[in-house]
Amino acid sequence: MTVRISATDWAEGGTTAEDAVEIARAFAAHGADVIDVSTGQVVADERPEFGRSYQTPFADRIRHATGVPVIAVGAISSWDDVNSLILAGRTDLCALARPHLYDPHWTLHAAAEQGYSGPGAVWPAPYRAGSRRPQTGRTDAPKPRLTLGS
Ligand SMILES: Cc1cc2nc3c(=O)[nH]c(=O)nc-3n(C[C@H](O)[C@H](O)[C@H](O)COP(=O)(O)O)c2cc1C
Repeated sequence: MTVRISATDWAEGGTTAEDAVEIARAFAAHGADVIDVSTGQVVADERPEFGRSYQTPFADRIRHATGVPVIAVGAISSWDDVNSLILAGRTDLCALARPHLYDPHWTLHAAAEQGYSGPGAVWPAPYRAGSRRPQTGRTDAPKPRLTLGS
């Protein structure tokens, strides 16, 4: 069971990162297996410190303070960022929302770009012919034909 929390209200008098550690601990003590760490969206006068992967520090802190597995979310866009955050031990999983609205095949494309094919990225049969990045003809094949054929 995963539980999403809002780790800080980004507002004076609201919940803080320290509170979030205790909240996560309490959920884990009552059976939560993973804490999905979001922030804000609680009060209108919030002042979020928005930026690339901006909520990950809260996930990182909960993970290291409690040992409970976490999901990082928020302005994580590339598979490179996902791999970096996981390999650095800052999170156990990443969740991406808007990147999937931009590219509904985000996961399949991330797999293809990393040369992964397997049960984690199964292309629907009608799309399978597109399961590799299209060749550009500039740096890879097929090279442009520069002479007229007969
Ligand atoms: C259309 C849309 C609907 C969302 N609905 C919810 C929701 O019901 N509950 C929630 O906790 N977060 C919701 N979110 C927030 C996302 O789960 C995510 O935390 C947020 O978009 C930041 O991640 P991102 O930068 O990858 O989009 C929604 C986001 C979008 C774009």
